[in-house]
Amino acid sequence: MNHPFDAFTYRDGVLHAGDVPVTEIADAAGTPTFVYSADAIRSSYRRIERAFAPIGAKLHYAVKASSNINILRLLREQGAGMDVVSGGELERAWLAGTPMEEIVFAGVGKTRAEQKAALDGRWSPLKDAAERLGGRNIEDRGPVGLFNVESESELEVLAEVAAELGVVARVCIRVNPDVDARTHEYTTTGKEENKFGVAVARVPVLFEAFKDNPSIEVTGLHVHIGSPVRETEPFESAVRVLLELIYRLEGAGHVVKVLDLGGGWPMNYSDGESPDIEDFAEVLVPLLETRAKNGLQIVLEPGRSIMANAGVLLTRVHHVKEGRRKRFVICDAGMHTLIRPAFYRAFHFVWPVRVEAGHVPPSAMEDLELPDLHPSDVVGPICETGDFLARERNLPKVQRGDLVAVFSAGAYGMSMSSNYNDHPRCAEVLVDGGRSVLINKRQEQATLLETEVSPREL
Ligand code: LLP
Repeated sequence: MNHPFDAFTYRDGVLHAGDVPVTEIADAAGTPTFVYSADAIRSSYRRIERAFAPIGAKLHYAVKASSNINILRLLREQGAGMDVVSGGELERAWLAGTPMEEIVFAGVGKTRAEQKAALDGRWSPLKDAAERLGGRNIEDRGPVGLFNVESESELEVLAEVAAELGVVARVCIRVNPDVDARTHEYTTTGKEENKFGVAVARVPVLFEAFKDNPSIEVTGLHVHIGSPVRETEPFESAVRVLLELIYRLEGAGHVVKVLDLGGGWPMNYSDGESPDIEDFAEVLVPLLETRAKNGLQIVLEPGRSIMANAGVLLTRVHHVKEGRRKRFVICDAGMHTLIRPAFYRAFHFVWPVRVEAGHVPPSAMEDLELPDLHPSDVVGPICETGDFLARERNLPKVQRGDLVAVFSAGAYGMSMSSNYNDHPRCAEVLVDGGRSVLINKRQEQATLLETEVSPREL
């Protein structure tokens, strides 16, 4: 699968994004900054598309992975639809030029207001701002292509809202297949004890209950078992459960037109961590081929597998502190910038941006055997012990002012960042060949205070 060094490579001892030395980006944009490679985004998108081409899978990019509107536009150019999980993501996807029919709206807690905006642009929270933000006519944008519905309760409310607005909501039922994705417990979503989806036995009941409802068209099934899934077997089990369920639904006279397999597709944070996307396709395509040939539309919702290795986080070292057993490298990025190490104990390869000849990393592994490395914790400025980017790593010596790169940070980095400890959210830069553009300005300190400075009566 794609690799942390695909788009970011060391040339003459300096990390480059495509043809651009990232030192230039840090000088111009400051730090911390997320840097994305347009080439890497395009090529991983195409690779997934190609792997599943034999079953004509339609890709809906999971906006939550990295939601910058310029990234959404880039993926639109590749032909991506969008998978959104909130009213906010819905508006981004639409502003990026996605036709409503190509948006799937998932999420376990959709509100009435979000459902309304997804069915009729006149209810969009951007109604008054759309034009200013460069959006098309919002009034007649129509309903989203698909709602991935998570519960009976949600379906009941959606039916009411759609009836009120006089439109039909097209729906896939998210199935909880009770399959263990064998990934981090916080991102395991397909087990019976997880809050997601409808139990297999309950799905036919929902199809039956809504089959004559004039405001709802139950058109298919959705599943998402976890993220990232590092083995093919859980996907295979989930697909088998779903195929069996389709068979049963058809037996009861229902028609299933769409099968959305969700996200969780593989990527490598370190070398050789996952099988390739082609290995997943090799297992799944034969299972789905006949169905797809007979008209079943297969949908995938990749996020991480497109974005993670297309981004690095640049951070500057502000202090170095020698501990008794290890060195603390104190940077301007931390858990407020990239929460994954703190939250999931996730591994990100971390390395200085400028290195001597002997220190060009041969691979993105935890324990590199190179001369003159020192056990180091790379930490942020936040007042928590959990605020680290990397712990107990052997790293080359760095000094105050040096730049450090956190690799594989393109997914769930910026989108999960926060203002904790009152730090402004950081900048984002997109590199395309030799050109780099600022696609998100660093937040200004004043912005953080604006909503608080003048209290008013409720
Ligand atoms: N579809 C659904 C319904 C999802 O819940 C998700 C991710 C995706 C698609 C995209 O999955 P992906 O292709 O990116 O694996 N913050 C965590 C990951 C949370 C994933 C949540 N759902 C992390 O940083 O690892």
